[in-house]
Amino acid sequence: MRLHHLISLANLDRDCISRLLDRAEHMRVDSHHGTRRLDLLTGRTVLNLFFEPSTRTRTSFELAALRLGANVVNFDIARSSTNKGETLLDTLHTLEAMHLDAIVVRHRETGTPEFMVRHAMSGVSIVNAGDGNHAHPTQGLLDALTIRQHHPDLATLKVTICGDILHSRVARSDIHALTTLGVRELRLCGPQSLLPAPTEVPGCILVEDFDAAIENVDVVIMLRLQKERMAATLLPDEAAYFEHFGLDTRRLSRAAPGCLVMHPGPINRGIEIAPEVADGAQSRILEQVGNGVFVRMAVLAEVLGR
Ligand code: NCD
Repeated sequence: MRLHHLISLANLDRDCISRLLDRAEHMRVDSHHGTRRLDLLTGRTVLNLFFEPSTRTRTSFELAALRLGANVVNFDIARSSTNKGETLLDTLHTLEAMHLDAIVVRHRETGTPEFMVRHAMSGVSIVNAGDGNHAHPTQGLLDALTIRQHHPDLATLKVTICGDILHSRVARSDIHALTTLGVRELRLCGPQSLLPAPTEVPGCILVEDFDAAIENVDVVIMLRLQKERMAATLLPDEAAYFEHFGLDTRRLSRAAPGCLVMHPGPINRGIEIAPEVADGAQSRILEQVGNGVFVRMAVLAEVLGR
């Protein structure tokens, strides 16, 4: 069944996630790695509504829409009536009155995309580009795609996600994608204060010691400390954090040979990852960015029914 919105990966089954990843691969091939435009969404209009900063996600949604032949409008929050006190509901209905086909939304509040789905009146598709610490479904998909390109059989893989899991919507979407696709083992590592409750992440192994968590894994996904979502009391000392949870060459040597090093970005060099690892031969960080465009092309084509 075709998706009309994409809010989270939590309710998508393995076939649906695999179909979206296959579709992203086709977008890559058919668009000649993004150099040829596909006219699947000619005449459609996609609006980017980003209430939080973004470099990769916003740009790649824009490129994805343009490469499918759609029109794109980037809503400028700083100059909008949001600053004059307009509610989200009034903003939504105002934008809908201008006949949009899809709204890509990022918001600091968990649940905003879902709220928009419930209140939209025009049949517009809503795509979540990250809500609070809840979900970032296209990041989950592009991370799974990047892993699958290197390891077609996910059932053999051990994966560690390390860092500020508690505040990370990326971690939540990665967990949904990777467990649904059946990875062999998924370890979550971080200081205890930044780990979720075990009941929130069934099937995952929680580990506080990064040296143990990285032992023999095929993929390590590093996360940024989400200071903007953190109570001051949770803020770790950055030097101590790097010592315990930073990925450097010594730690990476404990992983399986050729272990993929991933990070959703933006990276904080020297806080969660050493520059020589971020820029090293095992780093897949820029491949993730490139895959982001194909995944977003697949998602827009899916929700807009082409
Ligand atoms: C992430 C986000 O905004 O959730 N960035 C991204 O979309 N690639 C992760 C982060 O901000 O640390």
